Amino acid sequence: MNGFGGMDDLTKDQLALRARARELAAGPVAARAAEVDRTEQYPWDNVALLKDAGLLGMTIPTRHGGQGRSWLDAVLVIEALSAACSVTGRIAVETNMGAISAVMAYGSEEQKKLAADMVLAGDKPAICITEPEAGSDASGMTTRADRRGNRFVLNGRKHWITGGGVSRLHLIFAKVFDEQGNEEGVGGFLAIRDETPGLKITKREPTMGLRGIPEAVIDFEEMELAPSALVIPPRGLRKGFADLMNAYNSQRVGAATVALGIAEGAYRLALDWSEERHQFGRPINEFQGLQWKLADMSIRLAAAQSLVYKAARSGEGGFPDMLMAAQAKIFTSENAIQVVNDALQCFGARGYSRELPLERMARDVRMFTIGGGTAEVLRNVVAGAILGKKLPQTRDGWGTRSKPA
Ligand code: FAD
Ligand code: COA
Repeated sequence: MNGFGGMDDLTKDQLALRARARELAAGPVAARAAEVDRTEQYPWDNVALLKDAGLLGMTIPTRHGGQGRSWLDAVLVIEALSAACSVTGRIAVETNMGAISAVMAYGSEEQKKLAADMVLAGDKPAICITEPEAGSDASGMTTRADRRGNRFVLNGRKHWITGGGVSRLHLIFAKVFDEQGNEEGVGGFLAIRDETPGLKITKREPTMGLRGIPEAVIDFEEMELAPSALVIPPRGLRKGFADLMNAYNSQRVGAATVALGIAEGAYRLALDWSEERHQFGRPINEFQGLQWKLADMSIRLAAAQSLVYKAARSGEGGFPDMLMAAQAKIFTSENAIQVVNDALQCFGARGYSRELPLERMARDVRMFTIGGGTAEVLRNVVAGAILGKKLPQTRDGWGTRSKPA
C-alpha cells in the first residue's frame, strides 16, 4: 500500500531506491522548493544532490558510466522527487529519459560517450523539437540542416525549450537537405551551447509554473556542425522522425510521472490537514463531502500510477510503447490537475496562500496536459493505435510534409 491504495509490486532494490529518493525529497529538496519557484533560479545545488545520490543518468548503460537502470526505476525516483519539487523531478526526467535516451540508443560510440559524460557530470540535456509554427504539428518543422561540403549548416528557430540557457548539450530535430536542396528526412543533431557559434538563446519565457527551469527560444543562425554531430536513427533519415519520436515516448512517461508526483504530494498534504483542521468541533475529514473528495483523489492517483508503471514496464529493453505512454500521459496529467485542485480546496483560504505549496503545485501541474504532446493530440495517437489507422491531421493528408518517393 502506498497511501492511496495503489499496488506497488516492486522489488527490494526498487523499494530501497524509492526510499532513498523519498528521503532526499522530504529533506533538502522540499526545503528549497518554494525558493526555487520564487527566485526562478535553476537549482544547481539539487543537481549536485542528485549526482551524489547516483540519481542522474541512472538509465545510462554501465559501460558508459551509468547504472543501466530500468524506466520504472527512474519513474520511482521522479515520482518521489516531484512530490516535493517538480523542477527537481523534471531534472531527473531529462537526465534519464528523452534526449539522453535517444543518444544512448541511436548514437555513435563517440556521441554516447560525450552525452553520458556530460549528463553524469550534471548537465540536463535540452531536446529541441517545437517551433513557433510547428507545435503539435512537429513534423511540419522548418529548421533545416543543409549539407555543405564536409559540414552541416543549421538555420531555424525552436521555442519552449526546457533548460535553454542552463543546458549545455542540445539534441536538435532538423530536416536534412542534400547539396542539391533535396530533403532527406529528419535527423537529430548534437550541439553544445557556448562551444557552437550560431546557437543563440534569444528569450526566456515568463512561465506560469515550473519556474526553476528556463523555457527558452533558441535560434540557429548559420550554425555549423561536423557530420559527427548527426545522430542517425536506426532506420535512416527517412524514418528518422518516427524513430526519434519513439525515443521520446520515454520522456512522455517521465512527464506523466512528474504530474503524478505533484498530485501525490498535494494529496498527502490534504490528508494530513483534513485530520488536523477542526470545524464544527470535529476534524474536517468527518464530513462526508470531504471524505468523498479524498476517496476520489485516491482513486485517480491509484489509476494514474498503474498506467504510468505499466507504460514504464512496457519499455523493457527498448522504449515505452507509444500507446501506453500516451494513455498514461493523458490520464495522469488531467487527473493530477483535478487532484491538486481538490487538495487546495481542502485547505480553504490557506490553500490560496503563497505560504503553502498548494498554489505552486496548482501552477506547476497545469503544464502537463500541454508540454510533451497535448492531451488532444495524444488522443489522436491513442485513437490511431486502437483503430489501427493512420489519422493524418492535414486537410490533404500530407500538409507541409514531403510526400514519400
Ligand atoms: P498548438 O499545436 O498550437 O495547439 C494549440 C491547441 O490546439 C492545443 O489545445 C492543441 O491540443 C490543439 N490542437 C492542435 N492540433 C490538434 C489536432 N490535430 N487535434 C486536436 N487538437 C489539436 N518543446 C520542445 O521541443 N522541447 C521542450 O523541452 C519543451 N518543453 C516545454 C515545456 C513547457 C513548460 C511547455 C509548456 C511546452 C514545452 N514544449 C517543448 C513545447 C510543447 O511540446 C508544445 O507546446 C506542444 O507540443 C503543443 O504545441 P503548441 O504549444 O504549439 O500548441
Ligand atoms: N512513437 C513512435 N512512433 C511515432 C510516435 C511515437 N510517439 N509518433 C509518431 N510516430 C511515427 C508514426 O508511427 C509514423 O511512422 P510511420 O511513418 O512509420 O508510419 C511517423 O512517426 C509519423 O507519424 P504521424 O502520426 O504519421 O505524423 P504526423 O506528421 O501526422 O505528425 C505528430 C503527428 C507525431 C507530430 C503528433 O502526433 C505529435 O506527437 N505531436 C506532438 C509533438 C510533441 O510531442 N512535441 C513535444 C516536444 S517536447
